[in-house]
Amino acid sequence: MCFASFCKNCSLFLLIVVPFLPLLIDRIPMMTGMFPFLHFTTPFGFIAEEIPDLSGKTILVTGANAGLGFDTVRHLARNNAEVILACRNMKKGNVAMEKIKEEMPNAKLHLLQLDLGNLASVEAFAKKVNKQFKSLDSLILNAGIMMTPYSLSDDGLQLQFAVNHLGHFYLTKMLLDLVVKSGPSTIVSLSSAGHFSAELPLYMTPKDLNDKDKYMPDQHYAQSKLFNIYFVSKLNSRLKAGGVNNVHVNVVHPGFVRTELGRHFHTVVGEGIGLALFELINNSIAWGTEEASLTSVYAAVSPKVFNEKITNKYFHPIARETSRSWLAEREDLANELWDISERYITQFQNGESLTDEKLDQ
Ligand SMILES: NC(=O)c1ccc[n+]([C@@H]2O[C@H](COP(=O)([O-])OP(=O)(O)OC[C@H]3O[C@@H](n4cnc5c(N)ncnc54)[C@H](OP(=O)(O)O)[C@@H]3O)[C@@H](O)[C@H]2O)c1
Repeated sequence: MCFASFCKNCSLFLLIVVPFLPLLIDRIPMMTGMFPFLHFTTPFGFIAEEIPDLSGKTILVTGANAGLGFDTVRHLARNNAEVILACRNMKKGNVAMEKIKEEMPNAKLHLLQLDLGNLASVEAFAKKVNKQFKSLDSLILNAGIMMTPYSLSDDGLQLQFAVNHLGHFYLTKMLLDLVVKSGPSTIVSLSSAGHFSAELPLYMTPKDLNDKDKYMPDQHYAQSKLFNIYFVSKLNSRLKAGGVNNVHVNVVHPGFVRTELGRHFHTVVGEGIGLALFELINNSIAWGTEEASLTSVYAAVSPKVFNEKITNKYFHPIARETSRSWLAEREDLANELWDISERYITQFQNGESLTDEKLDQ
């Protein structure tokens, strides 16, 4: 084949394939909905105008001061919900609250301090919520950290596990009666398509979790996001077994969203070209938080979720149901995680160390 005909074939190939590339990529489960440009073939599953009037509804958002949490609160407040902003840093929480109040002077907002990496803080926060609020119509487990350098929580557990999974596990346990009492209600957990990268063995015991030699920031993030899915699936089965049918618990991947989450990305890709590429994507083709937070808002308040009793589903941008990884379907591992999480909480409540060797047996 001469050079000219090779070029002709190549350009023909590009002309035919390139327009369909987003369509092809959007069929890969891990990529679906990841970027806005992959969304052009399918309409949004939910738009801001479809948010119902939320007067009389109380909704809690963790990590409400920044990124997706902040815009989740804005959508809810704009539609008259009373919103509890659960924030680790009160100074940042106040700035966020004031910003929303400037835009919506009548917004009903409550700022409460919550550090998910500290179980005593989770307990104190949940006690305040239980005392102060008569109902909780939706619990949005949004806060998260990603690919942090090796570090331990105040309770001595690997930080990504502690914040992304165990803190939310205990928070939900403490608030579940209120959510059930408020039914029909919802619980939403923010996972990630990053869970597709989780690999066996999974790290759950203190010995595995805290082993510095085994620590891989990206793998531990992926596993913590897989644990969000296990948590939702197990919570669903436990509610069902207890005869509770009006609490709808779903899991969300918000897409690749322009937020502060990537602040530790350099721990995985280094400071060079990998980081530059990440920043380029983040600043150009990533979702904005106002649109991307609609998937969480959909799972929390959409009439469709209540009318069709949608529960234990995985949604990706924007508010479209999709499939999770094969590992996310492993019920035995979901059971194992639940049992070990219960044991961590029992040890905490008994005033024992969480890194006690009992959990390694
Ligand atoms: N952005 C994405 O592309 C993406 C993709 C997939 C999944 N997600 C998930 O979406 C969720 C929201 O992330 P984001 O992108 O909006 O990130 P973000 O901009 O970094 O916001 C994270 C929020 O979590 C809070 N937080 C961190 N540690 C906490 C702790 N110990 N206790 C209480 N709150 C804590 C942060 O508070 P401070 O400001 O005080 O640190 C902040 O409010 C996360 O669960 C993340 O895994 C995001």
